[in-house]
Amino acid sequence: MFGTKIKAQFPIFQAHPNLVYLDNAATTQKPKMVIDGITNFYQKENANIHRGIYDLAAQTSAKYEKVRTKVADFIGATSPKSIVYTSGTTASINLVATSFLSPRLVAGDEVLISMMEHHANLIPWQMICKAKGASLRVIPINADGSLDMNAYKQALSPKTKMVAITHISNALGTINPVAKMIALAHQKDIPVLVDGAQSTAHYPIDVNALDADFFTFSGHKVFGPTGIGILYGKQALLETMSPSQYGGDMIRSVSFEETSFAPSPQRFEAGTTNIAGVIGLGYAIDFLNQLDKKAIGVYLKSLGKYAQEQLSAIDGLTIIGTASEKTGIISFTLQDIHPHDIASFVGANNIAIRAGHHCTQPLMKHLKLPATSRASLSIYNTQEDIDLLVAAIKETVDFFVI
Ligand SMILES: Cc1ncc(COP(=O)(O)O)c(C=O)c1O
Repeated sequence: MFGTKIKAQFPIFQAHPNLVYLDNAATTQKPKMVIDGITNFYQKENANIHRGIYDLAAQTSAKYEKVRTKVADFIGATSPKSIVYTSGTTASINLVATSFLSPRLVAGDEVLISMMEHHANLIPWQMICKAKGASLRVIPINADGSLDMNAYKQALSPKTKMVAITHISNALGTINPVAKMIALAHQKDIPVLVDGAQSTAHYPIDVNALDADFFTFSGHKVFGPTGIGILYGKQALLETMSPSQYGGDMIRSVSFEETSFAPSPQRFEAGTTNIAGVIGLGYAIDFLNQLDKKAIGVYLKSLGKYAQEQLSAIDGLTIIGTASEKTGIISFTLQDIHPHDIASFVGANNIAIRAGHHCTQPLMKHLKLPATSRASLSIYNTQEDIDLLVAAIKETVDFFVI
């Protein structure tokens, strides 16, 4: 089902037949049905939503709202009213920080994040903590890159007003035990936001079973377009939140003296949103719904294991992040060759990997590393892709190490 067979559905690999794309944590490639769906929308369906009453506008509005239901079903939410369209994970987290947490936070409170957070799940909390005189508390990690759960349990206190945790680390590949973490936080009535940017393309997500208060993901990391993302929030929580942007399509009534807002989720979607992005995301979910999502998780975990075994057999290569619960995101260092040199060397062989701090500078500082190289896998990758990477890295060693 996966690997070469599914690769045929991604036109980029016809345009670049020799491309070995191993930068899926940054963004995934797009299947033909998503590209065609967006083209079709602009060619045959384009109109603004929620405004016009002519047929085209009504049909587009209906399609736009149908995607909301599709997203809700896709992540196990009970109601489309829990689904807010945003521009991506970053925007979703910022919305929760400013509209949910900020009004509730006072001096002396704490917000709990982990050491492995992407900057998107760090800076928004840091900024509101600073503004309110609250503290950002950081859950440490173990030597293998797993979360220190004892430290987490101890950190939960009456001062904790929010837990924000990544489901899967984009820098280490670690899968965090979010269900357990949410249950522990809820014992103390602490709300939890799960950053699902890396998990949504890897696993079936069930926000209801997880009992997550908020869950975020980005369209472009789940085979959809850029510029569209999702904030899932428990309806009761979303209804307590004020909008953070004001304008058209989010109001109930407006006068020069005052404005009353539409109920959520509309009140969080001011102005003309990314309609084509929503439509494209709908096709990406259709694409994923044709696949066995549990099998995707199994495939990526086992291909990741293969990659880790093959890479760690290279002399001088160190895998960064070896937690037992890990998926196909493999960070590594190679002797003292700079990760950028590795990425550009293998890039010359048409192999796309990432090098850098992966928007996790505090994690890199903790690991005492300036950067790592990272291969991140998706459903169209094969063992052959890994073998080509391994061969290119061996050539890199031969080139740099005399
Ligand atoms: C774990 C994690 N969180 C958040 C983000 C931010 O996602 P976006 O740039 O799509 O908003 C990323 C992106 O790489 C990520 O990996």
